Amino acid sequence: MSNKNIVWHEHHVTKKHRAIIKNQKPCVLWFTGLSGSGKSTIANAVEVKLNELSKHTYLLDGDNVRLGLNKGLSFSDDDRIENIRRIGEVSKLFLDAGVIVLTAFISPFQKDRQQVRDLIEGIEFVEVFIDTPIAICEARDPKGLYQKARKGEIPNFTGISSPYESPSQPEIHIKAGILSLEESVNQILNYLNLNNYLDA
Ligand code: ADX
Repeated sequence: MSNKNIVWHEHHVTKKHRAIIKNQKPCVLWFTGLSGSGKSTIANAVEVKLNELSKHTYLLDGDNVRLGLNKGLSFSDDDRIENIRRIGEVSKLFLDAGVIVLTAFISPFQKDRQQVRDLIEGIEFVEVFIDTPIAICEARDPKGLYQKARKGEIPNFTGISSPYESPSQPEIHIKAGILSLEESVNQILNYLNLNNYLDA
């Protein structure tokens, strides 16, 4: 379908107005890492801290979004690309609402993460690499998926039968196999503080 008769409307209330009354600078904390690396757990704990600081947040989580908005998308390369493209667009809308967004998706392909980075302006995109060695993710196997993937029961499983491309220059690099949850959360909060994201 052609978009040529559709025009973006500028509204009177802008992102800036919305952010000012929330006393914060909107940004996307884009968590990326293997299944079982701790993305959701760390993102959850960071959101709790931000909420305690009276910051307005929203956490978009892989499994939850795939049960709703992205129901029907598989784990083929094409569907993962579409998954990440949609999350990028949804994140951009939340940014426009002045919100601090946390996303927890494997987002395995460098090119797709770069596309979201390009879609979102400058410092509003903060890539958070949850760097947990696959051996640890597999030993944890919280959903029993690695075991199934090893038996060949799950096609295109990231790290086993589908690649994971590590970020080369993430804004925040969390060595989650070594750090505790609390240390990981502190590293992220420190970054946000040092770079003034939590100020008006
Ligand atoms: S992404 O690759 O498209 O970014 P996403 O983060 O939405 O993935 O979903 C990943 C979650 O789906 C995993 O944590 C896991 O629970 C589940 N999952 C089911 N099938 C697969 C698969 N083939 N590869 C990776 N994760 C899978």
